[in-house]
Amino acid sequence: MCAFVKGEPSVRVSVVGLGYVGLVTSACLAEQGHDVVGIEVSSARIEALLDGRMPFHEPGLAELVQANREVGRLTFTADPAAISQADVVFVAVGTHDGNGGWQTRTIQSCLNDIVPRLADDAALVIRSTLPPWFLAHLPIIVGRMRQEAGLGEVPVLLNPEFTKEGTAVQDFLEPERVVLGIAHDVDGRGAARLRRLYRGMSAPILEMSATDAALSKLGANLFLATKISFANELAQLCDQYGGNVDQVVGAMAYDHRIGGAFLRAGIGFGGSCLPHQVTMTVATAAKSGLPTPLFAAVAEVNLRQRERMIDRLAGLLGGSVAGARIALLGVTFKPDTDDLRDAPSIHIATRLIEEGATVVAFDPMTNALERFAALVPGVRVASSVEIALDDADAAALVTEWGVFRQLDWVDAASRMRRAIMVDGRNALSVVELVDAGFAYASFGRGIRGQTDVPVTAPLVTAVEAEATGAPTSHETPAIDASATEGSPSERHRSGTSDLDLALTD
Ligand SMILES: NC(=O)c1ccc[n+]([C@@H]2O[C@H](COP(=O)([O-])OP(=O)(O)OC[C@H]3O[C@@H](n4cnc5c(N)ncnc54)[C@H](O)[C@@H]3O)[C@@H](O)[C@H]2O)c1
Repeated sequence: MCAFVKGEPSVRVSVVGLGYVGLVTSACLAEQGHDVVGIEVSSARIEALLDGRMPFHEPGLAELVQANREVGRLTFTADPAAISQADVVFVAVGTHDGNGGWQTRTIQSCLNDIVPRLADDAALVIRSTLPPWFLAHLPIIVGRMRQEAGLGEVPVLLNPEFTKEGTAVQDFLEPERVVLGIAHDVDGRGAARLRRLYRGMSAPILEMSATDAALSKLGANLFLATKISFANELAQLCDQYGGNVDQVVGAMAYDHRIGGAFLRAGIGFGGSCLPHQVTMTVATAAKSGLPTPLFAAVAEVNLRQRERMIDRLAGLLGGSVAGARIALLGVTFKPDTDDLRDAPSIHIATRLIEEGATVVAFDPMTNALERFAALVPGVRVASSVEIALDDADAAALVTEWGVFRQLDWVDAASRMRRAIMVDGRNALSVVELVDAGFAYASFGRGIRGQTDVPVTAPLVTAVEAEATGAPTSHETPAIDASATEGSPSERHRSGTSDLDLALTD
């Protein structure tokens, strides 16, 4: 837990780049009693913030921003000159190229703007995730810019960001560790200043080289991604042999060397961090002749899971999704965020439409749903989950928002043309769904199985089929869900559904 230390002078901070990372950093440092100026190049974003509107959804952030603006500890501007007053300047601009690679153009242009404006005794702290090869260049670039401006050198540090979207405020205020990476700090004044900034934190402050700091951030994300792909591979074994991944992982988690966190099977990871960092690591290492087959497999398994969602829907629909109407439940890459960056929903909806399905999406984040419609040509969006489910041939749970967990499944089944659910997050109760009349598939929990008693027989491999004469799993007939068809959904339809569906047509 961190707390404002009474009697200690506050640190004057500037944060450059007010995205998911920079805005949380700004608001949380202000909350800790520091004087913070947030600097942002996007005029629309600055206008929104000055107007009291949040540019994105992050639980608890709007309240922190408002409270700290009211007491004058947090201000926003588009003018980079504001950093000349700061003791510590954080840089939190983007480093992704949008195509699974790194880019350093944004940070280099940002450094161009700010480095000649830094006060002589200020510390420059990079919060963005940097490509490992850029670390050696960073202090040289900054040193050269200072020299060309006729100014003295400044300390350059890395302070990687370990917060998670959805719980970022709490993660910042109650971190598990604070990592300080030293890129250039001859007299230790940069590290001392950051220690003063974080003096209210009870978490350990770990000081190391900038390269180690960057790799500790990268390593954490690679490990988490590996855990998810591992769980997905394990789930395949469970499906193959009639096991239940919940039971299997539950038992494994008692081993403290393993732990249960992130061992979650489903459609895999998305978002701005994990997918990019896995692919960027593989590509960057390959360029320097270093093979990273484990991380390459993590990425491959992750993409495969998105495709398996399509296969599962096709299987339950009798072999193909063509002509089917699919209710896509959730579009954000995880609950409690409106972030769509590398969200599995984009891949899944695009592929379903390519295969001839009609996709009707709903997400509690209206603004994310609107952006989703722009990203996925041909998708339809609904203004409520009930409207998305009306007349659907199948539903696909893509984001495990609480609102979906709490649905009345009997009502949901009766709205749908065929009560079929593929749960891409293993988030729903098998028993509840099956009792409501659903044909239900998830990942590693069989098809129409129950949590403790799987109903379906294990899938039969080609080799076993040859030995026993049984049909292979590919030949296994899809479950006929017609027996679970609900009553005509017209009875339940609200008068607005056609309008909703026309939103993105
Ligand atoms: N999103 C996360 O959860 C997360 C977690 C850990 C690390 N990171 C890393 O943190 C960095 C930032 O990520 P993000 O998600 O906040 O990105 P983002 O794209 O949401 O935000 C970056 C912001 O910086 C602004 N910007 C760009 N150039 C600028 C300049 N010269 N001056 C002022 N503002 C400028 C952009 O307009 C944008 O608002 C990336 O390197 C990312 O890899 C992100």
